Amino acid sequence: MSNRYLVKAAGLVVVVGIAVAGLLVWYGTRVPDSTFDSAANSNLSDAALVQRGEYVARSSDCVACHSLPDGPAFSGGLEMATPLGSIYATNITPDDKAGIGRYSLADFDRAVRHGVAPEGRRLYPAMPYPSYAKLSDEDVRALYAFFMQGVGPSEVANVPSEIPWPLNMRWPIAMWNTLFTEPGTFAENTEQDAQWNRGAYLV
Ligand code: HEC
Repeated sequence: MSNRYLVKAAGLVVVVGIAVAGLLVWYGTRVPDSTFDSAANSNLSDAALVQRGEYVARSSDCVACHSLPDGPAFSGGLEMATPLGSIYATNITPDDKAGIGRYSLADFDRAVRHGVAPEGRRLYPAMPYPSYAKLSDEDVRALYAFFMQGVGPSEVANVPSEIPWPLNMRWPIAMWNTLFTEPGTFAENTEQDAQWNRGAYLV
C-alpha cells in the first residue's frame, strides 16, 4: 500500500473515532423526557398530597441514605464505600443552593426514576433509581410535593465523591442504564389480586 492510502485510512479512522466519541457523549449526557415536562407545577402545596408524599418517602426509605443521625433531615452525607472510592448521598432538602430547591417536578422525576440530574449528569446507581423507576406518576408527584413543602431547607453542603478521574466520568453510566435497567413503571399482574399487586409494588 502506498503512503497516500495509509494517510487516507488513518484520517478515516480519526473521523469515525471522533464521530463515535461524540455520539457516546451525546447519549451519555442527554436529558431524557419526563412525563411531567409540560405539567404545571400547580396544586403541589395541597396538604393531602404533601402527606401522601411523606408516606411514599417513608415507604421508599429515602431518609436511610439522605440523612445522618445527627444532621437535619434529608441534608445528605451518608458515606457509601465502593472499591473505587467513597460516594456520598446528597442534600435533597428544598434549599436553592445546597439542595434541590431549584428542581422542577420534571427534574425531580428524572433524578428519582431515571437517575439523571439537571444538565444531564448521570447519578451513580447507589441512588436506587433502577427500583424507583417503578414508582407511579402520582407517587412521584406526591414525593415532590413533600420534599418541596414538607421538608425544611438545609444549607449543609454536599461532600464530593472520592472516585478518581477517569473512573468518575458519569456519561458511561448511561450505557449501564440501557443494558441493566428495565424501563417503565410498575405493571399490575392481572392474575393476582389488589393486595398482592400492592405488595409487589412496595417491594
Ligand atoms: C441506598 C441509598 C439511597 C436511597 C434509599 C435514596 N437515595 Fe437518593 N441518592 C443516593 C446517592 C448516593 C445519591 C448521589 C448519587 C451521585 O452522586 O451520583 C443520590 C442522589 C439523589 C438525588 C440527586 C440530587 C442531586 O442533585 O445531586 C435526588 C433528587 C435523590 N437522590 C432523591 C431521592 C429520593 C426522593 C429518595 C427516596 C424515594 C432517595 N433519593 C433514596 C442514595 C440514595
